[in-house]
Amino acid sequence: MSEITTVYYQIKDNCRKGLLKYMERAFAYVPKTEKMKILDIGCGTGVPTIWLSENYGGIITAIDTDGNALEYLHAKIIDKKLENQITTCNISFFDLKTEPHSFDIILAEGFLNIVGFKEGFVGVMALLKEGGYFVIHDEYKDHEMKCDFIRDNDCALAGTLFLDESVWWNDYYRQLKTEIGSNNAKQIKELFKAELNEIAFYRKDPSQFRSIYYVVRKQ
Ligand SMILES: C[S@@+](CC[C@H](N)C(=O)[O-])C[C@H]1O[C@@H](n2cnc3c(N)ncnc32)[C@H](O)[C@@H]1O
Repeated sequence: MSEITTVYYQIKDNCRKGLLKYMERAFAYVPKTEKMKILDIGCGTGVPTIWLSENYGGIITAIDTDGNALEYLHAKIIDKKLENQITTCNISFFDLKTEPHSFDIILAEGFLNIVGFKEGFVGVMALLKEGGYFVIHDEYKDHEMKCDFIRDNDCALAGTLFLDESVWWNDYYRQLKTEIGSNNAKQIKELFKAELNEIAFYRKDPSQFRSIYYVVRKQ
């Protein structure tokens, strides 16, 4: 990975940590047991993955289609000596071949809104154990439909946690904007094009930046 790409992931990773406290609150609904098997789908640079390993232990598989983000995560795993606990895999969720109904916890942080709630949910159910937990962080949209869909799939909602638009500004975009602005490397603005567009979009219509955690228990 080039030096500038590393800087890009470093900045994203740093800013991402601002939102971690909300995931931590959502996980208050998820009991801890011994030797859990955990899947983190769309792990990115793995801020949530590392938190899971430090707070839930167990054996974690972290997958993503972004090879550079995984490379960045892998360096953190080595640095923290978590190689025996976390395995990364550069693969799409839909190509993942693994034992059915084998995971105790599955995390989808910002993943279902990319691939589609229903399609992603059904795929996850095929891998989750009975009594296992599926933690979803999703855009706040079609809430009632999603709650019905969860119940119709033999699952219960153990809890939800709503994040309003001020959270996204105060705990993520504000710092991101400052860090991008204070970096003098020309390519940084280019690498952060998508995020700068998100910030411009936020300014126009902050109400689009509401999100929610669904903590789902498979019956
Ligand atoms: C919004 S980011 C969230 C990253 C990370 N979970 C976090 O919370 O910091 C969504 C991630 O999903 C990944 N992704 C998108 N489609 C995927 C797929 N089909 N299979 C696995 N990962 C995917 C993207 O590469 C991206 O890293």
